Amino acid sequence: MVSGTGTNMEVLLNAMADPDFGANPVMVLSNRPGIPALEKAANRGIRVVCIDHRHYLDNRLDFDAAIDAALRQARVSVVCLAGFMRILGFQFVSAWEGRILNIHPSLLPEFPGLDTHRRVIETGKTFSGCTVHAVTPELDAGPILGQAAVPVLPGDTPTCLAARVNRAEHRLYPAVLRRFLNKRRETPTRLTTP
Ligand code: GRF
Repeated sequence: MVSGTGTNMEVLLNAMADPDFGANPVMVLSNRPGIPALEKAANRGIRVVCIDHRHYLDNRLDFDAAIDAALRQARVSVVCLAGFMRILGFQFVSAWEGRILNIHPSLLPEFPGLDTHRRVIETGKTFSGCTVHAVTPELDAGPILGQAAVPVLPGDTPTCLAARVNRAEHRLYPAVLRRFLNKRRETPTRLTTP
């Protein structure tokens, strides 16, 4: 699921091109029409779906329900948020918990939320980085699955720090997703009898 440029989406799609990766991209879903990520995915022949959040401004539950329906219809089993910039509601996240990952451009639990790079620089940090975490109803607070650190250099602007973090994201996200999928395969499904 994407909202913008889709560079993380691209590296995940590249990784999945390896038959040993163990996953296929079923669809790319966006909340915004006309974004580069959708064009990139469509050019690769991947099914793209746009659920424009502006049509649901009065009703977030309907927005979440439309996404949920699209994912189920496509028989998605794991969701990767890759720069998806809308907050998903409790009901949606609870239904998909354990099957949604997100990448966040800071070393969580520090600097959740938006505008991370400016805040990191203003706080005088000498390191920043990125985190892949499982998504839970609380924003940017789910269990951490992997992190990569980068230095904050003297004179860094939010833009150049973002670019450095983004490069680290491109190494981290495919590696963490691969491990996550392997672990999922190794964990037997437990059926509970009534
Ligand atoms: C990344 O920095 C990610 O951490 C954040 O949104 C950005 C998406 O970048 N959640 P891109 O669209 O993958 O280039």
